[in-house]
Amino acid sequence: MTIKNVTILGSGIMGHGIAQVSAMAGYKVFLRDIEQKFLDKAMEKIKWSLQKLAEKNKITSDKAETFYSNIIPMVDLQAATNNTDLIIEAVPEDFKLKEKVYGELNNLVKKETIFASNTSTLPITELSQLTNRPENFIGVHFFNPPQLMKLVEVIPGKETNEIIVKELTNYVKSLNKSPVICNKDVPGFIVNRIFIPLVHEALYALERDKVSKDMVDSAVKFKLDFPMGIFELADYTGLDVIYKASYEMNLRDKKVLLMHPKVKEMYDGMELGQKSGRGFYEYKGENYERIKLTPEKATQYEPSSILGVAANNAAWLIENNVCTLEDLNNALKLGMGLKTEIFELVKKQSPIKIVNRLKDLEGRYGDFYHPHKYLEDLK
Ligand code: CAA
Repeated sequence: MTIKNVTILGSGIMGHGIAQVSAMAGYKVFLRDIEQKFLDKAMEKIKWSLQKLAEKNKITSDKAETFYSNIIPMVDLQAATNNTDLIIEAVPEDFKLKEKVYGELNNLVKKETIFASNTSTLPITELSQLTNRPENFIGVHFFNPPQLMKLVEVIPGKETNEIIVKELTNYVKSLNKSPVICNKDVPGFIVNRIFIPLVHEALYALERDKVSKDMVDSAVKFKLDFPMGIFELADYTGLDVIYKASYEMNLRDKKVLLMHPKVKEMYDGMELGQKSGRGFYEYKGENYERIKLTPEKATQYEPSSILGVAANNAAWLIENNVCTLEDLNNALKLGMGLKTEIFELVKKQSPIKIVNRLKDLEGRYGDFYHPHKYLEDLK
């Protein structure tokens, strides 16, 4: 089958971005949400993004208009899905909600249509069981902002047909993005298994090391070469996404992250980050905004616990054959913008120092920090 028409379910941060990059690759796109007002907001964001890309001469203004007109916003689920080859579900990360969505789709959509989920943390095999086509079901996980981030994790479930893996890998390549196959359907897949725990760890750092958010973020940016600080990135991603991802991952595997209660408090209090005007930092509006981080502030904090937790989860991924070292490095570079490879960062700081830091944390705060063998063996 050749994919020509694509339907994106959910027009939030990820959904509207996936719709845009699909339209930019020449697909006809149906963008579906439950209310017109969500679609209006999404189409505004798409317009803004296309204009930005045109300003930077990445596309012409004519192309921007064509891409925009190739996206058809729709509320009617049947109309949005009855003539499509691929449905990418990008609704909020709530298992019950996804169950409802797939329940509706099962009765509406022709059997050949591929179902893909942009879930960031829910197991693909569990989701596939909610559908009447587990062999035609796959995970395709984009990164925020989909318009700029090159990585897409492709996650086959237990029953996913090999042909679907190929089809989806080709679709991802046609978007001019790099697919990385996640060999095992583990909580958080590759990148979120590293990123999400860092939000909790950075919160612990504030209490344990008595530092400020912008000191931690500046250190992460200038000493670890991350493009954004952890709190900045959490606000940019949305505390709703972070909380739900944390909850789902923790439910299935206690070793992924050490929950910090502040994440749930912020979620309950609607302090969601950039999208609500307030998260770890304050924002003027919903538009793209950056936090002022400086090399001077970075000198006041040594982010060894943050690096330790990231590298330890990376080691777990390698030890458990979830991905190769090459894929891991590629995923972190293209999905999180890391300029230096994670184990290179450890080597720069000294592996013994990082392992000892983890052992010290293990002694004080428990098994979560126990260093994996791959990290202990790093020379
Ligand atoms: N479309 C088009 N342009 C956009 C854009 C969009 N959606 N969003 C931002 N831009 C523009 C900005 O407006 C800015 O333009 P100007 O130069 O005119 O101001 C430009 O792109 C970016 O410039 P910056 O100097 O601010 O940014 P940068 O060089 O640091 O790059 C970035 C921005 C690519 C976002 C980079 O900071 C980065 O890689 N950050 C990390 C992002 C990340 O880790 N994402 C993954 C999160 S986890 C996830 O998504 C998975 C999940 O399931 C939770």
